[in-house]
Amino acid sequence: MPEPTGLPHPPDVGASALPAGTYDGVTVVVTGGGTGLGKGIAAEFARLGASIVITSRKDEHLQAGKEAMEAIGAPVLTVPCDIREPDSIAACFDAATEAFGLPQVLVNNAAANFPVPAEDMSPNAWRTVIDITLNGTFFMTREFGRRHLEAATPGSIINVGASYAWTGGPGFAHSAAAKAGIKNMTETLAVEWGPYGIQVNGLVPGLFPHEDMTADIQGNLERTNDKDVCQPALRVGQRQELGWAATFLASPYARFISGHTLVVDGANWQRRLLTNPPVVTVRDQMGKGPFEL
Ligand code: HXC
Ligand code: NAP
Repeated sequence: MPEPTGLPHPPDVGASALPAGTYDGVTVVVTGGGTGLGKGIAAEFARLGASIVITSRKDEHLQAGKEAMEAIGAPVLTVPCDIREPDSIAACFDAATEAFGLPQVLVNNAAANFPVPAEDMSPNAWRTVIDITLNGTFFMTREFGRRHLEAATPGSIINVGASYAWTGGPGFAHSAAAKAGIKNMTETLAVEWGPYGIQVNGLVPGLFPHEDMTADIQGNLERTNDKDVCQPALRVGQRQELGWAATFLASPYARFISGHTLVVDGANWQRRLLTNPPVVTVRDQMGKGPFEL
């Protein structure tokens, strides 16, 4: 019996399953596209010829996204926007349309998250994560959908989720609830807008560590010891693997796929043991003492 070696590694960054130029003449908006996975997704669309619009709140993130797209040679526009603000979103679409025409693809990647036991979570902490992750995703989607319905043009939306949408997420009650809402909304809107040519899908990353991860999330991952051996794939994801899934879902080769949420996680969320280890409370996992009012 050979030693298990896990799922094979993917081709290098720069490879693509789609024909060169698949996104020539296509504009793709990526929220939160200046950091982490959003930047990785935007890069794969850029390599296939897309014009990229990156939108988020912080100048340094917008600048990082711009530089990454320019390094690939893609036309890029950065627009400061808080996706909690519908007026800011409308202005973002106005700017994108003026620069490149109405964007044909929207990737709702921006999200907010931090680990916190539910009993410690303030009402405003809950509200903030729901507002950015769920409400922000809907507001972006609504603006994109209305503009395409008015113009009678097709479009494709990809909503980035998380697998605790199905399982719940101890330590992440706010984010898990928001991601469950996103998955459900994806299914509703795929049906509502299919007749108008608008495809709506979800894309769920598994564990994709990257240099932009917030300290909170990074600290939480460090507590899981060695990340690779905790995954059935015996490795974590590489960003291009998520980008390839996104570029496929919005491509002409996936037009009949809608209302689907694709999980790219090496089967990690399906992992079960024959016998369960002892339960460790979220407080203990986070190294917190007893709850005090
Ligand atoms: C408890 C916290 C907290 C923390 C903030 N809050 N951080 N509570 N633990 N670590 C509370 C604050 O005290 C405040 O409540 C409320 O949340 C709002 O905080 P603000 O700082 O005012 O909010 P804002 O400036 O809008 O910033 C939003 C943010 C911030 C979510 C807090 O972290 C952010 O901008 N994040 C964006 C990037 C991000 O989150 N990326 C993660 C995506 S990764 P009070 O009551 O004090 O007013 C992901 C991975 C999933 O989703 C899978 C992981 C394995
Ligand atoms: P990240 O680097 O922290 O990215 C979050 C992005 O969202 C940032 O670019 C941030 O930019 C933007 N953003 C946050 N609040 C915003 C707001 N109010 N308006 C506009 N933009 C806002 O996180 P990531 O790891 O790349 O995660 C990307 C997506 O993948 C998220 O949806 C996340 O839930 C999901 N995910 C990630 C993992 C993983 O392993 N990394 C696993 C499961 C799911 P500004 O600060 O400039 O606004």
